[in-house]
Amino acid sequence: MTQAAPIVLLTGASSGLGAALAAAYAARGWRLALVARRGELLQQLARDCGLDPDDTDRVRLIALDVRDTAALHAAAATLLHDWGCPQVVIANAGISHGVDLAQEADLDVAMDIMDVNWGAALATLAPFIAPMRARGSGALVGIASVAGVRGLPCHAAYCASKAALIRSLESLRVELRPSGVKVVTISPGYVATAMTAGNRFRMPFLLTPEVFAQRAVRAIDAGRAYATIPWQMAVLSKFLHVVPRAIFDRYAGRYGRKPRKDACAPCQGMTRRNRIRRGGR
Ligand SMILES: NC(=O)c1ccc[n+]([C@@H]2O[C@H](COP(=O)([O-])OP(=O)(O)OC[C@H]3O[C@@H](n4cnc5c(N)ncnc54)[C@H](OP(=O)(O)O)[C@@H]3O)[C@@H](O)[C@H]2O)c1
Repeated sequence: MTQAAPIVLLTGASSGLGAALAAAYAARGWRLALVARRGELLQQLARDCGLDPDDTDRVRLIALDVRDTAALHAAAATLLHDWGCPQVVIANAGISHGVDLAQEADLDVAMDIMDVNWGAALATLAPFIAPMRARGSGALVGIASVAGVRGLPCHAAYCASKAALIRSLESLRVELRPSGVKVVTISPGYVATAMTAGNRFRMPFLLTPEVFAQRAVRAIDAGRAYATIPWQMAVLSKFLHVVPRAIFDRYAGRYGRKPRKDACAPCQGMTRRNRIRRGGR
């Protein structure tokens, strides 16, 4: 593999959207810097992409917790030193749990969701702002969510974390506009991953991670400011954005609720259609 191959750094690469994005960039011959806590899954992913996990000219497997900013920034410094500045950095690592704010234990869960989905996402992008700006190119990407558009019941932390991410990325996008660096916000609808496996409600327009990744890579290539994937969820999210509060409050409560942490039972209570799409019966 040539040293000149472009570089993507991606957090949350050990499963779901992150693994599919990594595979999509690997198929294009990019060099991969993959971050997640479960190093063994990163190794397996590298092998599944046809790469030797020990070939550090082609792939860097970085097993860390993104909440550990010092470790994250040390890894970024090493990457900048060894490989140079990535063309694309994707802050994808995320967690999602329903919270019941009346339960004290769920406050910790809520804080954790903010730390991972918002704090660590910004910490992921931060070390690459100055080098990309100096070079005058690159894409800083955040994986947000359609859930960031309104506050869904029992989802106070997740919705807030994604809304915060969307606003922070918007701020950064405007700030970096003159520099040539793109800031791309991607809001997925529903994608069949471990994160959605315990959802006990209907998930319209559910995508496979692979289809999501193809569309996300296209949006990143195009340097889109904001992309909702799939487009049908963009229509729904625009509607949600403008629907008057009184109507939203009346109907949003009828929608299914995200289970609290440790309350997930994969596939239980899912609609038959979604179970089948996941390969179940
Ligand atoms: N699936 C959907 O329908 C959907 C919809 C909208 C938005 N999203 C967003 O898409 C992103 C990926 O979600 P997914 O569905 O692919 O979920 P997933 O399969 O559960 O994957 C989550 C990834 O984040 C990593 N991660 C979580 N906490 C971490 C931490 N503290 N340090 C390092 N890595 C951490 C996990 O790796 P380790 O556990 O190995 O550390 C894993 O690779 C998330 O930001 C999510 O909010 C997903």
